[in-house]
Amino acid sequence: MAENQDLYKKAAAEQAVEYVEDGMVLGLGSGTTVYWLLKRLGELVDQGLNIKGIPSSLRTEGWAKEFGIPLTDFSEVEMLDLAIDGADEIDPDFQLTKGGGGSLVREKLVNAHAKRVIIIADGSKMVDRLGKFPLPVEVLQFAWQRTADKIAALGATPVLREREGEVFVSNNGNYILDCAFGSIENPRALHSELKLLLGVVETGLFIDMTDKVILAGPDGAQVINK
Ligand code: A5P
Repeated sequence: MAENQDLYKKAAAEQAVEYVEDGMVLGLGSGTTVYWLLKRLGELVDQGLNIKGIPSSLRTEGWAKEFGIPLTDFSEVEMLDLAIDGADEIDPDFQLTKGGGGSLVREKLVNAHAKRVIIIADGSKMVDRLGKFPLPVEVLQFAWQRTADKIAALGATPVLREREGEVFVSNNGNYILDCAFGSIENPRALHSELKLLLGVVETGLFIDMTDKVILAGPDGAQVINK
């Protein structure tokens, strides 16, 4: 199954490359699906494709450099032509949960400054309603316990993210609380409520930011337009 899932991720990523044009500046998302995108883009750059990318995480930056993709940043670029990113959950309105890899703030900044956003994923990421995947919320380290209390009062069970026995620190020096809300009835309203809480830096709810979803499964990659 895991092997198949990898094949699906690769298929979705390779389909997305069809939307990349010479001369574009791209937003490079994060995660294991985006890994396949970067690998393919690297091959095309090798064959002469002229693109530049802004990475949305240090891990993506490392892979992009490894595959020879030229990089730039927001001191040189006002608007990206296209961002391609993964997701943890996608609902039928193309609202997303992201941040499973811990880079939600940079991913959101990159996607928010792109003319178009394509989300690539294996079919398991498409859900009827967001919420099964605990919502990542990035919070300041200082007083994170009190921020967690406020989030809990909204109906979640926040858990401080750890990796390999250590508290996980995001690329921006913050903590991540994985917040199980159960089924999220109104993602837009929940995002707004969370954003008003002192100590919350950003939520993993990506509202109205996606133009196209490419999902892959046993029957290949399927492009879904809004
Ligand atoms: C990273 O912070 C995330 O938002 C990823 O885009 C998301 O977790 C999807 O990752 P995979 O492609 O590894 O499933």
